[in-house]
Amino acid sequence: MSDPQPRPGIMKIAAYKGGDGSIPGYDDPIRLASNESALGPSPKAIAAYEAGKNDLHRYPESGIKLCQALGRLHGIDPARIVLGNGSDEIISLVTKAYVGPGDEVLFSRHGFAMYPIATLAAGATPVMAPENDYRADVDALLAAVTDKTKIVFLANPNNPTGSYLTSEEVARLHAGLPSHVLFVVDAAYAEYVSRNDYTAGQDLAQKHDNVVMMRTFSKIYGLAGLRVGWCFAPQAVCDVLHRTRGPFNVNAAAQAAAVAAVEDVAHIDQSRAHNDIWLPWFTEQVQQLGLAVLPSIGNFVLVGFPAEEGKDAVAAEAHLKKDGIIPRPVAGYGLPEFLRITIGLESEMHAVVSSLRAFVGR
Ligand SMILES: Cc1ncc(COP(=O)(O)O)c(C=O)c1O
Repeated sequence: MSDPQPRPGIMKIAAYKGGDGSIPGYDDPIRLASNESALGPSPKAIAAYEAGKNDLHRYPESGIKLCQALGRLHGIDPARIVLGNGSDEIISLVTKAYVGPGDEVLFSRHGFAMYPIATLAAGATPVMAPENDYRADVDALLAAVTDKTKIVFLANPNNPTGSYLTSEEVARLHAGLPSHVLFVVDAAYAEYVSRNDYTAGQDLAQKHDNVVMMRTFSKIYGLAGLRVGWCFAPQAVCDVLHRTRGPFNVNAAAQAAAVAAVEDVAHIDQSRAHNDIWLPWFTEQVQQLGLAVLPSIGNFVLVGFPAEEGKDAVAAEAHLKKDGIIPRPVAGYGLPEFLRITIGLESEMHAVVSSLRAFVGR
């Protein structure tokens, strides 16, 4: 008799390790490990969350109000929106529905960690295309497409690198894919971006039957703890995802808070403005310390350390933590020489720079 066995592929998964949230000895550490919003959610979202407390015995509604609010904000058809328990769930739903054993799912070398996890969970094979200078490479991705490829994930901007492909490059990537390949543009950080040459993929998803745009409330909306993500997808894809998702996959409090958050445009503007100040400031400060930093258009940066014992990323992480600051190691992404640091509050960014200055000057 043998023990119960999971499906093939499952045991190849390296379980996702989230950013640390605490440091022994610190009641209130500076948490910069998970690309959360520096300013937190809209006060209106918090009020909407609190207002639901007398209805906890009720099942959540269908999510139509949130889809309608998103439809109004983005100028898209609410019927083509599917909500998820974070965009992580959308990644899982899409993968489980469209790939299985023998299929390949393609993404770039330093693409978001949930792509290989969801792929292996579905029994399919993850394929990574090389990057060029920590940036997805359209030609390398297209060269890696085979007749087994069923999904291509592109995070734009990408986590953890912070790099992005221009709208022209995204269109060229899509144009090079066979029409049966689902092209998923993961725009988790789109709201932070103000570049003329950027696309979150909405234009492509509007026009093509094989493009999905994914978004989240975990980043600029500051609702990571409530778990709300969504995608804008072709009707046929929405139909598939609705068949496989849990009927109440986004809870009532999350829906209510997200509707209020969508409507508070001023709060999002404030969060973007905050990032527009502190992202370039922090990048410059890190450069002045003589450390490497990759250009980022998200709410986080990769800071590079020399591969020298005592000066490397492992030592830097220990030093920051000693000062009550939690960065994110990214060795799991094949980037052992870097730490990812989220843009936090003004005081937090000053604290990080002071700590790094002491580290570099040791
Ligand atoms: C690129 C990218 N996609 C998706 C996610 C998942 O976000 P959530 O499941 O919180 O919506 C993240 C979170 O860090 C991310 O960085």
